[in-house]
Amino acid sequence: MNIAVIIGTEAKGCTYSIKEAFLKPLRGGNEIVEYTLPKDMPHACIGCKACFMKGTEKCPHAPLVMPIWDSIAKADLLVIAAPVYGLGIPSALKALLDHFCVRWMVHRPELIMNSKRAVVLTNCVGPFFIARAAQRDIMNSLSWMGISKISRNSVGLIEGIVWEELSEKRRTKIVSKVQSLAARCSANNPPRKNLKTRAAFFACKLMHKAALKSEEIPSLDNRHWIDNGWIKLPEEKMPRSAS
Ligand SMILES: Cc1cc2nc3c(=O)[nH]c(=O)nc-3n(C[C@H](O)[C@H](O)[C@H](O)COP(=O)(O)O)c2cc1C
Repeated sequence: MNIAVIIGTEAKGCTYSIKEAFLKPLRGGNEIVEYTLPKDMPHACIGCKACFMKGTEKCPHAPLVMPIWDSIAKADLLVIAAPVYGLGIPSALKALLDHFCVRWMVHRPELIMNSKRAVVLTNCVGPFFIARAAQRDIMNSLSWMGISKISRNSVGLIEGIVWEELSEKRRTKIVSKVQSLAARCSANNPPRKNLKTRAAFFACKLMHKAALKSEEIPSLDNRHWIDNGWIKLPEEKMPRSAS
């Protein structure tokens, strides 16, 4: 199985330890590629919209974003691990996810995303429900990209923010929870597209169909939908053959 991992902090602290605990049972026999933020993609989206209007390769950060995207596209399992900052995700992770908006179903989704699993691991010093609520941006991003099967683990550290200073009991509990999640992910049976993903895709299809009617030349988004056979050019816009 191919596994792509994105960790939203460079600190070798709690997030790192939780991510390592999750990966430990998966290290043998699986191909794992890991990205650390902000080191591997330190740029915020500058809003140039080149990805939407001209192509993803025209993004000024494409040399850093594209290899991460290619690893995600190749992966059977995507793992995102992050601490909570200000009740949300670290800005570096949000910045990376912003670069993937062009891959959302409302724009130019990839069918291969439907057959992936994702795991979201977050932790914070407060109670677990804060870590869970902070997953919103990640969950939105992954589900709009078309990933149907997303599992999550949210840890409330409570006792402190230094992994080594947590009690043995708490660390063992955290590790055993993420490792049983890893065990559930180790069977590489691709998930089925769920109802929510199907409904979102259908709604986007109607939206693109309607937009296409008023376009002189199909937008890059609609060209993608046409090329994938998801929508058709209206009859009157079909190129006429010389006869
Ligand atoms: C800038 C910053 C903001 C934080 N905001 C929150 C927060 O809103 N709620 C919370 O419970 N913990 C918050 N924390 C604590 C982190 O979630 C905690 O340090 C982290 O889970 C530990 O993981 P790490 O060792 O990988 O950094 C914050 C930490 C930092 C550095």
